[in-house]
Amino acid sequence: MIHINEPILGEEEFTAVRDVLASGRLTSWSGGGPMVRRFEEGFASYVGVREAVAVNSGTAALHSALSACGIGEGDEVIVPTFTFAATANTVLLCGAKPVFADIDGRSFNIDPEHVEGIVTPRTRAIVPVHVFGQPADMRSVLELAEAHGLAIIEDAAQAHGALLEGRKVGSLGRAGCFSFYGSKNISTGEGGMITTDDNMLAGRARRFRSQGQADPHSVEELGYSYRMPEVEAALGWVQLGRLDGFLEKRNGNAAYLTERLRGVEGVDVPFVMTGVRHAFYVYTITVSQEQYGITRDELQARLREAGVEAAVYWSVPVHLMPLYRRLLNSKEGDLPAAEEVAGRVLSLPVHPRLSEEDLDVIVGVVAG
Ligand SMILES: Cc1ncc(COP(=O)(O)O)c(C=O)c1O
Repeated sequence: MIHINEPILGEEEFTAVRDVLASGRLTSWSGGGPMVRRFEEGFASYVGVREAVAVNSGTAALHSALSACGIGEGDEVIVPTFTFAATANTVLLCGAKPVFADIDGRSFNIDPEHVEGIVTPRTRAIVPVHVFGQPADMRSVLELAEAHGLAIIEDAAQAHGALLEGRKVGSLGRAGCFSFYGSKNISTGEGGMITTDDNMLAGRARRFRSQGQADPHSVEELGYSYRMPEVEAALGWVQLGRLDGFLEKRNGNAAYLTERLRGVEGVDVPFVMTGVRHAFYVYTITVSQEQYGITRDELQARLREAGVEAAVYWSVPVHLMPLYRRLLNSKEGDLPAAEEVAGRVLSLPVHPRLSEEDLDVIVGVVAG
């Protein structure tokens, strides 16, 4: 089976994990153990920020960053509806209200024009998501934030190493949040990271990850148990050193697919904005049944028969999930661009382990 994504683990990862196990030091309190601190320093320097705070998931990163920005009851936070549920769920976890924005139908990223219309006096922050590894339109989002005094927390869970006009995602807003879940461009199994130039925010996030402890004898504020284990940090540190190589391969594979799929009637290849390095977490096409002849779901089934795992991210925009329909009274037609895209997207594998033959199998099925 050609999987949608696969972790790439070599001898260096095995050695790093064995060394941690041999050290007998598996975890630490809010300040982080030696491997956690090493991974944090390496990640901060890679992203180009002063501080990085490692946690045990991308969801924990978002929850910690929002909380460290002071988001709480009575606040509204604008999030795109075309995203993984964690982007909105973490707003709820802070006791605040997620307000859903529509997306740009070509890039799948948050539509700044729509955002402008839903800002209210209660809006405190915007969480743009760099969907599938492509940076959101941050110039417009940052202008809006400036005009309305809002915090920007980037959801960069799928976009490690993506660049916008030469700057890494995770360094563009007040804080950036990454995931190291098993399928991500670099992985620690489960894990997450908050990046920021704001020392106070980083300090709050560090306390938040360990019960709100400033030191082992003092709980200053409410916190969680979001610490990253040493084994994961060791894995992450090795993976980080390989990230640029992975991204080069992903971009090469994407270019190979685009060259062969552009021009297939009824299929739109990914739109890549100028001035970006895309992180190509997945390679997402849209399928128009009228011109292509079969539905997106039928194409997905054909790929599966040929041994290719294609995935639908996301078939239901978050505002139409039962929880949010119930809480916010949202319904079909509220956010038309995202709803339309959700019915047509199909993500194809583009990861570094694919061979040319694998890519040709994918092209063979999609191009027919
Ligand atoms: C856009 C987005 N945000 C947040 C997350 C949450 O990350 P995690 O699964 O590590 O909690 C993910 C992970 O799948 C994601 O894709």
